[in-house]
Amino acid sequence: MNKTVLVSGGAGFIGSHVTVELIEAGYEVVVADNFSNCDRTCYEGVKKITGREDLPLEVMDFCDPEAVKALFGKYHIDAVIHFAAFKAVGESVEQPLKYYRNNLDSFLNVLEAAKEHGSFVLFSSSATVYGEPDSVPVTEATPRKPATSPYGNTKTICEDILRDSVKASGGRLKGILLRYFNPIGAHPSALIGELPRGVPNNLVPFITQTAIGKRECLSIFGNDYPTPDGTCLRDYIDIVDLAKAHVYAVNRMVDGRMKQACEVFNVGTGRPVSVLELVNAFEKVNGVKLNYKFAPRRAGDVTAIWADPSLAESEMGWKATRSVEQTLQAAWAWEKHLAGK
Ligand code: WQD
Repeated sequence: MNKTVLVSGGAGFIGSHVTVELIEAGYEVVVADNFSNCDRTCYEGVKKITGREDLPLEVMDFCDPEAVKALFGKYHIDAVIHFAAFKAVGESVEQPLKYYRNNLDSFLNVLEAAKEHGSFVLFSSSATVYGEPDSVPVTEATPRKPATSPYGNTKTICEDILRDSVKASGGRLKGILLRYFNPIGAHPSALIGELPRGVPNNLVPFITQTAIGKRECLSIFGNDYPTPDGTCLRDYIDIVDLAKAHVYAVNRMVDGRMKQACEVFNVGTGRPVSVLELVNAFEKVNGVKLNYKFAPRRAGDVTAIWADPSLAESEMGWKATRSVEQTLQAAWAWEKHLAGK
């Protein structure tokens, strides 16, 4: 029988791409979402891409412990991938309690149910836990730094919660932490992608919305950083590559190949790209001219961070395969699809 994976937040940007890859790898998937920060576009897109009209959808809030218990009672969940969380860095600074309440409560409920039912747990962590690193690239052993936002802090705290609970569970709970760098792009079908509400905070949605004419001008935040062209360096990871990393991690868990009860892997490319390089690559590969200007630095931005992704390759056999150009083409195709072009 196929193994079943529960994807909390499965109708969102990362969750929908992960659902596609899991189904294509032969897993049964249960999508659960409360649609607090997305509509049904990606859920419908996943059904189209996979041909799975019967894809189970549970509309529910992971902060409700009874609903989570009922969900784990309804399905036999071999592994749960937890995405359901708020993710706006700026909003988390203004409303920290909203972020701590939502992002921690939901994860605690998932962990309690997973422990009860012996389900593996995969947590969506972030490179944000490294803060401004003392040296780059960062490995999984690079010390974490205090988070610069409540959102970032929820990632650090959830990592600790998983580690502590695994340790105390006497083998009942096992989990993997994946630390994502900067996920960008969209599925090559252009049927699913990122759907930011309001003005995008992240670079690539802002670029595509400027190119399509929804935004007047892209501000590049800071061109006086100590980097080759003065703009920040990041590790932009294609969303489909990133989604596939989850399949490798779930395989490792359910096939009994974990070497420790709680493992951590960077999910990045190992390739630093500056903001200006990304903008230039977008213009070139898509043949569009972007209206942009240099603006002051954005508070809280780190100068440079990129992954050493070699552990994910040596341990799980996963590595990123798509070029920045392919990814930016997919991001543009998705924006055009949204605009009906
Ligand atoms: C990338 C670069 C900006 C917008 C954030 C979160 C992190 C993670 C991913 C999310 C930076 C520059 C951006 C713009 C710009 N988690 N930029 N103009 O900040 O690396 O990471 O998203 O769930 O936790 O902090 O990503 O895409 O916002 O920025 O110049 O309009 O682009 O200054 O150098 P970031 P980003």
